Amino acid sequence: MAVIAITGTPGAGKTSVSEELRRRGYTVIDMNEHLRRHDLLGEKDVPRDTYNVDMEALNDSLEEYRRMPGIVFLDSHLAHECDCSRIIVLRCSPQVLAGRLRARGYSDAKVRENVQAEILDVILCEATDSDIPVNEIDCTEGTPSDAVDFIERILNGETEICPPGSVDWSGEMEEWF
Ligand SMILES: Nc1ncnc2c1ncn2[C@@H]1O[C@H](COP(=O)(O)OP(=O)(O)OP(=O)(O)O)[C@@H](O)[C@H]1O
Ligand SMILES: [Mg+2]
Repeated sequence: MAVIAITGTPGAGKTSVSEELRRRGYTVIDMNEHLRRHDLLGEKDVPRDTYNVDMEALNDSLEEYRRMPGIVFLDSHLAHECDCSRIIVLRCSPQVLAGRLRARGYSDAKVRENVQAEILDVILCEATDSDIPVNEIDCTEGTPSDAVDFIERILNGETEICPPGSVDWSGEMEEWF
């Protein structure tokens, strides 16, 4: 299978877009569930509230999917660090992202940390540092279904739409730093 990474800052919309991909019949790996099932969660990084993951072991565990025909999507902020053939970075404007994360009950500090990462294009830069083709899709407005329409167009050969660099939150820098 061609492995396509669906990545982005928490709250950008990865899981919502993944649900729509599944609804349209695609296979999507929920990375958290996959990591637990394959016993790939390492030690907890307490200050960052994340688990360390052995990326080599994770890539090995994805081999079973690579051997199948078709496309498999990975839903995770780690997805772009996996061996994949395309990276889709989902984006969300700072104000709207903050609202989504506050609605989850995140602390002000955690909201700010994630919004700052979104403004600084942290995940986009990590993605474009690889040799893998990247697209970014703005999920601030519209629906997950709109985002999946873009993903399908990209996979059908319109690879030039939604290029990296098309989203720019730098105008909101002052408010959040
Ligand atoms: N166009 C859109 N695309 C995706 N999500 C959207 C869109 N518009 C609004 N939303 C809303 O934004 C929220 C996105 O949350 P979601 O859990 O999908 O994010 P996530 O990227 O998977 O976060 P995490 O990294 O924490 O798993 C949902 O409440 C969803 O309904
Ligand atoms: Mg999610």
